[in-house]
Amino acid sequence: MTDISQPNPDTSMAQPAEKVPRVVVFDSGVGGLSVLDALQRQLPGHQYYFVSDNAGFPYGTRSEYSLTQRVHKVLRQIMPHLQPDLLVVVCNSASTVVLPSLRESYETPFVGVVPAIKPAAALSKTGVIGLLATPATVQREYTHRLVREFAPNCRVEMHGSGELVEIAERAIRGVAPGPMQMQQALQPLIDRCSEEVDTLVLACTHFPLIKQWIEPYFPSVQHWVEPADAIARRVESLLGKGQPGLTEQPRAILTQADGDLDALQAYLGKLGFGPVEVREIDAAH
Ligand code: DGL
Repeated sequence: MTDISQPNPDTSMAQPAEKVPRVVVFDSGVGGLSVLDALQRQLPGHQYYFVSDNAGFPYGTRSEYSLTQRVHKVLRQIMPHLQPDLLVVVCNSASTVVLPSLRESYETPFVGVVPAIKPAAALSKTGVIGLLATPATVQREYTHRLVREFAPNCRVEMHGSGELVEIAERAIRGVAPGPMQMQQALQPLIDRCSEEVDTLVLACTHFPLIKQWIEPYFPSVQHWVEPADAIARRVESLLGKGQPGLTEQPRAILTQADGDLDALQAYLGKLGFGPVEVREIDAAH
């Protein structure tokens, strides 16, 4: 008869197989990819899942209530399915409002992205900072509190644009914006600060993807502030570097079939993704 009170020497000596940390990068659309790229380069030892709630897109025009409902609805399906070790809400519009309730609802650690006003204030010499975001982010009390707290002596000129988000979505599907379109989308900010602005915060994760088309309109800008590296540092501080030598393919999940899936798939393919998975989540919040 086997004595079950004693551990079996063979199994107690065996090393448990190390689990590859799972990191979910979550956004309404392709904005998450601007951060995923930095995560993959700096922390290649994690298994990455890019989740785009394209059925709920855009987030940047939703009210706080609607956005909170929507993110919780999507995560109620995604969390049990993927069981991540960490989830990055790579969306300013969402992070500025839903992080506290997500942290209350799940034990999983969440990392968010909010407008980088503090680093911008530290970098600016002229004290004039531009901030490009979605309409929702520029309206959020959270954003205005950041300005009061971290840039009280700066002039922070904000512009919220849903059009720039759409431009980024089309750009990664191979449709580059024309100069007229960019000019129109940026004009409100150009009018208010093009001469003195030396620091520009890209406070929507879609915008680093179209930075090359934004830059020419702001020749005085010395510092472009983007969140990707800070997020990578935060993920590393919570999860470590992951498994060395890992070559797991990142996986992409959409919440509805994409109207232009081939173009999106081609872009994702260049970033090393395999076939996109669709997990339908209806658009109502
Ligand atoms: N990428 C998101 C952000 O950082 C939102 C884009 C949208 O869905 O409007 O705010």
